Amino acid sequence: MPRRERRSVAGVEAVGAYTLLRLDRGGLDPGVPGQFFMLEAPGRLLPRALSLCLAPAGELAFLLEAVGPGTEALCALQPGERIHVFGPLGNGFRLDVERPLLVGGGIGMAPLSYLAGRIGRPPVVLGFRSDRHAEAAALLPEAEVVVDPVLVTELIEPDFDVLACGPEPMLRAVAERCPGAQLAWEAAMACGYGACYGCAFEIDGELKRLCVEGPVLAAA
Ligand SMILES: Cc1cc2nc3c(=O)[nH]c(=O)nc-3n(C[C@H](O)[C@H](O)[C@H](O)COP(=O)(O)OP(=O)(O)OC[C@H]3O[C@@H](n4cnc5c(N)ncnc54)[C@H](O)[C@@H]3O)c2cc1C
Ligand code: FES
Repeated sequence: MPRRERRSVAGVEAVGAYTLLRLDRGGLDPGVPGQFFMLEAPGRLLPRALSLCLAPAGELAFLLEAVGPGTEALCALQPGERIHVFGPLGNGFRLDVERPLLVGGGIGMAPLSYLAGRIGRPPVVLGFRSDRHAEAAALLPEAEVVVDPVLVTELIEPDFDVLACGPEPMLRAVAERCPGAQLAWEAAMACGYGACYGCAFEIDGELKRLCVEGPVLAAA
């Protein structure tokens, strides 16, 4: 069940070009891998959506890429500071797959660490835009890693049940190769629970809200 709680920062660590933000868990449920939380971004009106990256005992950890004011404010938090956290929200990955292969692009690797732990360390392939970004693969030591110009989609083998998260062009390429894949998408989200329609997209002429129907959707 999603809950809204005010939680303390337990730690903030650089992981290559990204930042791992650790919060004390309190009464929050980590949820299913691929679900997300809305984190208060200090000084900003709206919270920001983040997938859970790791769920160590008593904590929830989020991997962040600072791309704008909200994510920058979250990366600048100090241990002991407190922020509101709401979640888990949305629909995560189905875990009942026979031959999982996790595919991540850039910050899209965030939910894959938690996912790998929940389905017994499956094969993982990750792609990054630079060696510095690729240092984050330390969170998934078993992963096969490529750096641009090699594309992570080149590592996908047929006959696997693909679970993927990454930038839109990567997800579209995965969907083309693997129509049975599960894909975690992103959209700008203001509320995270279906009220604002900020994350709405059209499928077959119908408006769907990514925060309610997704963020994980079947590729087909
Ligand atoms: C379900 C979900 C899970 C996410 N998980 C993570 C995560 O684990 N780690 C992480 O770093 N980020 C994650 N994001 C993306 C993150 O929410 C956005 O990058 C963040 O809201 C940007 O806020 P900002 O104020 O820093 O930048 P802004 O100034 O709001 O945006 C900076 C740039 O990013 C674009 N942008 C903003 N929000 C999004 C978005 N949601 N999707 C795509 N582009 C966007 C803007 O158009 C702009 O170009 C997730 C998003 C969703 C919807
Ligand atoms: S974020 Fe408000 S409806 Fe999806």
